[in-house]
Amino acid sequence: MDGNGRWAKSLGQSRQYGHQVGSSRVYEIFKACTELGCRTATFFAMSSENMNRNEAEISFISQLLKSSINEHFSDLIDNKIKFKVIGDLSSLPNKILEIIQHAENETKNFSAYNLNIAYNYGGHWDIINAANLALLNHKQINYETLCKYLSTSENYPDLIVRTGGYKRLSNFMLWQAAYSEFQFLDVLWPDISKNDIESIFHNYENTQRKFGLVK
Ligand code: IPE
Ligand code: MG
Repeated sequence: MDGNGRWAKSLGQSRQYGHQVGSSRVYEIFKACTELGCRTATFFAMSSENMNRNEAEISFISQLLKSSINEHFSDLIDNKIKFKVIGDLSSLPNKILEIIQHAENETKNFSAYNLNIAYNYGGHWDIINAANLALLNHKQINYETLCKYLSTSENYPDLIVRTGGYKRLSNFMLWQAAYSEFQFLDVLWPDISKNDIESIFHNYENTQRKFGLVK
């Protein structure tokens, strides 16, 4: 979800305002994705590296995480959406952690849809974390044992979309992206529309996926 800061700046507003409007688009865009047949989506809210931004921006974004969970908690329940925050959450204040854990707990038995937020998430962190967890239970790591402990388990994204104009992964799901399709949009995240989502899905459907095979 890149481009919040630039979007706000173009309006003469603060970066905070950009994050606030950006965050208010997440649930709406998730719904648009589910209407087109997608059952699982992960929104990259904050990377491990973003955590080196100034304290005020980091704490503002963590408060937004809390307020959006509160705002959409009943939507999660009503629509049977399993909610999860992935990433290293150890730096979050207890109050926010409790709200996350409550939402995760109350939705953990749903299987219709999955809405994940990646917060203080990095692909490097995910792999190292999975390796450490795997080593607690296994003498040696193989493909299956490592996948089991990744924050996404063995579910990999079919499609990764980045808004904001840059064509890079920025440490997102490095392991899981092995055979993902990629789409890069110039649109800044707060401006993303249902039309953008429709054309993303249309492009995806017209791509033949081969997974290294000859078709
Ligand atoms: C994306 O917007 C949200 C986060 C990374 C937290 P940015 O904050 O990266 O916005 P730009 O790239 O400066 O416009
Ligand atoms: Mg950015």
